[in-house]
Amino acid sequence: MILAVETSCDDTSAAILGRDGGLLGHVIATQDMHGEFGGIVPEVASRAQVKVIDHVVVRALAEAGTSIGDVDAFAVTAGPGLIGSLLVGLNWVKAAAYALGKPFIGIHHMEAHLFAGALEDGRAEPPFVALLVSGGHTLLLYVESWGRYHLLGQTRDDAAGEAFDKVARLLGLGYPGGPLIERLAREGDGSRHPFSTPMVRAAQREEDDDYYDMSFSGLKTAVLMRVRELEAEGRLEKEVAHLCAAFQSAAVEQLTEKTLRAVRASRCQRVVLGGGVARNGALAAAIRGRLGREGELIVPSPRLATDNAAMVARAARYRLGLGERSGLDLNAEADLPMPGIV
Ligand code: KG4
Ligand code: ZN
Repeated sequence: MILAVETSCDDTSAAILGRDGGLLGHVIATQDMHGEFGGIVPEVASRAQVKVIDHVVVRALAEAGTSIGDVDAFAVTAGPGLIGSLLVGLNWVKAAAYALGKPFIGIHHMEAHLFAGALEDGRAEPPFVALLVSGGHTLLLYVESWGRYHLLGQTRDDAAGEAFDKVARLLGLGYPGGPLIERLAREGDGSRHPFSTPMVRAAQREEDDDYYDMSFSGLKTAVLMRVRELEAEGRLEKEVAHLCAAFQSAAVEQLTEKTLRAVRASRCQRVVLGGGVARNGALAAAIRGRLGREGELIVPSPRLATDNAAMVARAARYRLGLGERSGLDLNAEADLPMPGIV
């Protein structure tokens, strides 16, 4: 039985994975005070983590109907993320493992996102193409097997979720921006303010170094310019939903095109999404549409797409199974490199 903790950013989560791999308990406490700042304030986030972590773990154990003494091993996100937040979970898990004399393992946050789909869908087994789209990272991988990841492309500037958050902020919508933009985009007409799709050119070839890479900051600036024009003309308010639709459509088209390039090159028709932006219905619909009938798209349920400890427990189950363990000298790393990149 694995007890996992995830505190890499603003959410505090604990999960219990049973000996047969089933999820027995899972609690996610979301911080709601960041909206007023238009983004996460790290110091505020880590202080709030300290306040709730004990309670979150106790609730997860209660939900699983078990006690901490029955835990066989502990797992925790060791990076990447906000250092102050990471340290809260890491120190909690180190202390518990030391006190109980049980092993523990530090897990890479993006590898955890990669395993989210496998928690609830038996088809999410390698080989597959993975698109991991979160607030801090955007990775396009060919997953040959668990632990062997070919990095095909990544963002050159902002992460996909970060772009949603920044555009929401400049439209005055609040935080997190993704869900707010998605909702407004449904009422908008993207063709009123067409933005070109970043990093997609005619006659781009696989040898080109921008073939799989992505970029979001130019798109964000294009939205900003349009916002300023509309503001000067006094018609921004009426156009917000249209801008959301146009931004989302360009962002989704970029992610979809790059993913389909990976599908073609790897000849692998199975695609697994992960990370908070995987909650975006327009993204899933676009990829599903382009994959066609031979393709398989696996999208984690919303609760498992955004940050959660269940995915950390699932990745830990794999790594502990290989005999891997962390030592008490393990430190949190804000820029921890992804393991298994080949
Ligand atoms: O994976 P995640 O919970 O945290 C990180 O590891 O960063 O992802 C959070 C990100 C935020 O940027 C949020 O705006 C985005 O996921 N997000 C969405 C949607 N729901 C959450 N982006 C687009 N559409 C959504 N429906
Ligand atoms: Zn995440």
